[in-house]
Amino acid sequence: MSDIEDALRAAAAKVDRTLDELLPKPSGIEGRVAEAMRYATLSGGKRFRPFLVLCASSLFRTNESGALRVAAAIEMVHSYSLVHDDLPAMDDDDMRRGQASCHVKFDEATAILAGDALLTLAFEVISAPATHENPDVRCRLVQALATAAGGQGMVGGQMLDLRAADEDLTIAGVSRLQRLKTGALIAFACESGAILGRASREARQALRGYAHDLGLAFQIADDLLDADGDAKEAGKAVGKDAAAGKATFVSTLGLDRARTQAVMLAEQATDHLDLFDKKAEPLRKIVQFVVDRRH
Ligand code: IPE
Ligand code: IPE
Ligand code: MG
Ligand code: MG
Ligand code: MG
Repeated sequence: MSDIEDALRAAAAKVDRTLDELLPKPSGIEGRVAEAMRYATLSGGKRFRPFLVLCASSLFRTNESGALRVAAAIEMVHSYSLVHDDLPAMDDDDMRRGQASCHVKFDEATAILAGDALLTLAFEVISAPATHENPDVRCRLVQALATAAGGQGMVGGQMLDLRAADEDLTIAGVSRLQRLKTGALIAFACESGAILGRASREARQALRGYAHDLGLAFQIADDLLDADGDAKEAGKAVGKDAAAGKATFVSTLGLDRARTQAVMLAEQATDHLDLFDKKAEPLRKIVQFVVDRRH
């Protein structure tokens, strides 16, 4: 296994411990929703966004326990988005992270509620003093996460994804869709490090540029996995985008050009990191993982 995969696993183990502490323990009749929240969040997942939070915050003078809380919160938002994405009304997928999707394991209503509760818990965690002693920093984190996750971010992108099915989007249209659907949360992961570290505008801009290219490369890799990946390895169904007529980089550019585009974006992403010297090495290395990944 490569160094970067080891680093990703080590970060994932820390984030999993934090998630386990922060997620509610099932009890009482309403305990079913806590059970579904834990099921959707604690079983599997690469923890790619939390890794970005930890790497970006380590570029600055930050406290690791606060960064871990932000990392856990973003994973809650991401896991909620997957639970809802798999619902019959959306992508209708029965498998996620190598196990039954949340609505299959529980039921649709419980999956909807578990998603809602994960989203709100993320904000409870981020806004608590344990995340950062400065209320202004906490408020900026809350605002940035709300923007990234909401109607002009991930949710907006999911709407575009559904509306764009069976439409021939231009490459600019697909880029916009992906930037919202996947890019916005990845950008928040990187920027949150700068917010926690009260970084300069220049450093924040550099991270934003990096995240923009990385986020697009990440979603192209996801689209490539759907087109030519293996369901067992990926832990989710493949071949569904074409069947559903989804507008993706693969449907717009074809497999080969989409792959070339991902590699080009990945190279471009690292160019934004010059400012940070050696400290940004994990952020440079994760880029290669993103384009090579099979899961
Ligand atoms: C899948 O995200 C959905 C996209 C936004 C592309 P990941 O590939 O990060 O999924 P997990 O968290 O590892 O399961
Ligand atoms: C989902 O994109 C992005 C989210 C915001 C959840 P996909 O629908 O392509 O993700 P997968 O392929 O189901 O993981
Ligand atoms: Mg989807
Ligand atoms: Mg999906
Ligand atoms: Mg996909």
